[in-house]
Amino acid sequence: GKSKVTHKIEHYSRFSPSPMSIKQFLDFGEENACEKTSYIFLRKELAVRLANTMREVTVLPANLQSQPSVKLVESWYSQSFEELLEYETRSPEDPRTLYDFLEILIKIQNRHNDVVPTMAQGVIEYKEKFGFDPFISSNVQYFLDRFYTNRISFRMLINQHTLLFGDTACLAQPKHIGSIDPACDVAEVVRDAYETAKMLCEQYYMTAPELKIEELNSKAPKKPIQVVYVPSHLFHMLFELFKNSMRATVELYENSSEGLPPVKAMVTLGKEDLSIKISDKGGGVPLRKIDRLFNYMYSTAPTPRLDPSQTAVPLAGFGYGLPITRLYARYFQGDLSLYSIEGFGTDAVIHLKALSSESFERLPVFNKSAWRHYQTGPEADDWSNPSTAKHLQNTAR
Ligand SMILES: Nc1ncnc2c1ncn2[C@@H]1O[C@H](COP(=O)(O)OP(=O)(O)OP(=O)(O)O)[C@@H](O)[C@H]1O
Ligand SMILES: [Mg+2]
Repeated sequence: GKSKVTHKIEHYSRFSPSPMSIKQFLDFGEENACEKTSYIFLRKELAVRLANTMREVTVLPANLQSQPSVKLVESWYSQSFEELLEYETRSPEDPRTLYDFLEILIKIQNRHNDVVPTMAQGVIEYKEKFGFDPFISSNVQYFLDRFYTNRISFRMLINQHTLLFGDTACLAQPKHIGSIDPACDVAEVVRDAYETAKMLCEQYYMTAPELKIEELNSKAPKKPIQVVYVPSHLFHMLFELFKNSMRATVELYENSSEGLPPVKAMVTLGKEDLSIKISDKGGGVPLRKIDRLFNYMYSTAPTPRLDPSQTAVPLAGFGYGLPITRLYARYFQGDLSLYSIEGFGTDAVIHLKALSSESFERLPVFNKSAWRHYQTGPEADDWSNPSTAKHLQNTAR
């Protein structure tokens, strides 16, 4: 027979996750939040979200699932799931329960710290053994977008609980509700992220481009733009974009006598959207390569290191900066778009919902239609392929 845990995974995966809006997170945290209510919600919701994603791992291609790093990540998920199961029957009325639950959440959070680089390692392991395969790549893309979104959401839920009810609750940021800033000054986060990226850039290149910020508040002209949001998410997204823009700018102007063109940030508030555009003149990316920048399997291409003593550029790592940034933006119903003009530069635009009541979590659900996605490969090409036309060019010449 099936083990108890397998049975429980199946049980919980039949529920769909319950998406929360930023407003709901905020309302719950503001009116003297009840730890028991949070506990009762989380012990089920966390199990549901874990179970959904664990079921999804099992439909990945066997050759990918069997890579040591993927197995390691799986073992973290199983262990955390089992630890949560212990609370199914523990009473919220017992103060010991609430205390233990808080501890276990922190333990789970820490156990999962390295999930992203470890999964990336798994993809590299797979590629080294089996090479690049468009079917696998499309499955990996679909899977990792969902898996990492699930992880972002899981950490969001845990953070809200531990920040609201833990010992260090509200010491650091008294105005924050858990990880949410009810009056997050967007330009301030832009500046913070810029300064942090600048420090890295200067360490490596001895120089960094300046920042120019412009604010356009269409709702309340001349007033600073504020949003109810998770500042750490915003910081993370902007930091990634600044690192990319700085690297492109500095590398393009490396041997030039001209000064570096500044990186520009435009923060705009409309009725529905809050948009942040980061523009650089770093030479851009050709259109042909734009889609690849978001592809996990392309990104983790092990780069040939000619000189092993040479350390990697600290401004560029796995190549997960852009795909993960887009997941953060999409998590609360926003998005990230990249407009690049090769030979000139790049505009990266983060769109967020202006209203916290519309910023609902966007969560993957493991259902029939998700399952089907893994069975069918990418569509066969139904447009002409330039490589098949090449022989004609040759004979014509
Ligand atoms: N503003 C930009 N200008 C020019 N090229 C860019 C820009 N942003 C991204 N790129 C290109 O896209 C690639 C992928 O960017 P991404 O941030 O996803 O990964 P990375 O910077 O290589 O590594 P990391 O994971 O550290 O971010 C970069 O390596 C770079 O070649
Ligand atoms: Mg990057």
